[in-house]
Amino acid sequence: MTAACLPSLAADSATDTHARFGSLDFATGKALFKKNWVPAPASTSASDGLGPLYNARSCNQCHPDGGRGSREASLVFHINDPVYGQQIQRFAGAGLPREAVPNQTELYAGQNSELSYSEVKITELSYGPMVNDAVSARLAPALFGLGMLERIADKDILALADEADSNDDGISGRVNIIVNEQGDSRIGRFGWKASQVSLHNQLGRALSLDLGLGNPLFPSAIGDCTPAQQVCLDAPNGNSLHHDDLETNQLVLDLLLIYVRELAQPAGLNSASDSSPAEAGKNLFEKTGCATCHVPNMSVEGVTIHPYSDLLLHDMGMGLADALSEGDVAGHEWRTSPLWGLGKLDSEFLHDGRASSLHQAILWHGGEAAAARENYLGLQASERNDLILFLNGL
Ligand code: HEC
Ligand code: HEC
Repeated sequence: MTAACLPSLAADSATDTHARFGSLDFATGKALFKKNWVPAPASTSASDGLGPLYNARSCNQCHPDGGRGSREASLVFHINDPVYGQQIQRFAGAGLPREAVPNQTELYAGQNSELSYSEVKITELSYGPMVNDAVSARLAPALFGLGMLERIADKDILALADEADSNDDGISGRVNIIVNEQGDSRIGRFGWKASQVSLHNQLGRALSLDLGLGNPLFPSAIGDCTPAQQVCLDAPNGNSLHHDDLETNQLVLDLLLIYVRELAQPAGLNSASDSSPAEAGKNLFEKTGCATCHVPNMSVEGVTIHPYSDLLLHDMGMGLADALSEGDVAGHEWRTSPLWGLGKLDSEFLHDGRASSLHQAILWHGGEAAAARENYLGLQASERNDLILFLNGL
């Protein structure tokens, strides 16, 4: 059964997209995903509205063909600052200064000498100093299989949570409960901190914050400009009648949703043969405790999928922490990354792409995952190889 055959999630406002549009709309959604937007005013009002401040000109620039972005092209700096807003914006429309320039120079050594990585610093701030200089650098994740993750029942995620660690296994994952303005609470599942409850929300946010495009969920044309950035507030907007007096209308959001929801989950390369090294690796994955968080099997309306995630937040230790908390989610808490499709990624792992190999990614695990890391380090070299081989085949 493919993602396209499954009924849509009932709680979402854009649920009936499949019914309303044909499958050809996947191609139109893909074209919108790849479209390079331009700042207003432009000769074609259907394409303008980018910015005033922005981080890329298209979704595809950060998520190439729906895959994971590189550190070079896709790192987004989350902040919470009265002058600079919610994200550092690396680009700006004509006449405006960009906010800052990220610089990958300084070397930072983690808790283990094998683990050094180049920390990205924010430099050349154009609008004066930041008031709150806590920054969280995030890599653009691959988008495959998200339509499936969206359809996992809340109760199945809740069943995995064990906030008080009542089973005493040292692992106490918790759900990120997001309460909206109407007071309704929902389970967050998307983003490195599980802070977005639906793909609809995540996409509206991406249009507004990453591209500076107003849309039905975030109608403002000024995106992430703040009252402290007057030149930005005064910049021309791209609201147009083609888009129901917005920069991008509901149709754009719906078509992007169709495209993202139908990016199929990766098939996996591991063979089913019992004697393959990957099979040995799979057993070691369970034995060392990886599978407690990277849960191999989840059910979506009776269909088993293999995301290798519980979608829960875990304390990953101070080595992976940054200084920015998001809602009540602390700097050291991260959502278990789904590992499906891991073998297809380039060598930039973890939320900011700091790990240049799977081995390094595992060594960075601390906090609740420290015991699993130690179990991994206790394996023989050949066993570690089998485990890595298994991961590469996901
Ligand atoms: C400047 C780079 C950038 C651009 C442009 C961008 N994204 Fe993203 N995207 C990110 C980052 C970084 C994250 C992770 C955010 C977080 O941790 O909260 C993300 C997260 C997502 C997610 C959730 C992924 C997951 O695994 O939970 C979706 C879906 C998504 N983006 C879709 C889009 C779409 C559609 C567009 C275009 C409208 C877009 N993005 C534009 C960088 C970008
Ligand atoms: C306590 C829960 C937990 C356990 C146990 C755990 N992980 Fe993770 N894993 C996470 C979280 C959370 C992240 C995301 C951390 C980040 O990006 O900062 C992650 C990230 C990863 C990544 C990087 C994925 C990516 O998208 O870049 C790999 C690879 C990985 N884990 C493998 C393993 C292996 C192998 C084991 C067992 C030796 C293991 N993990 C044990 C929670 C866990």
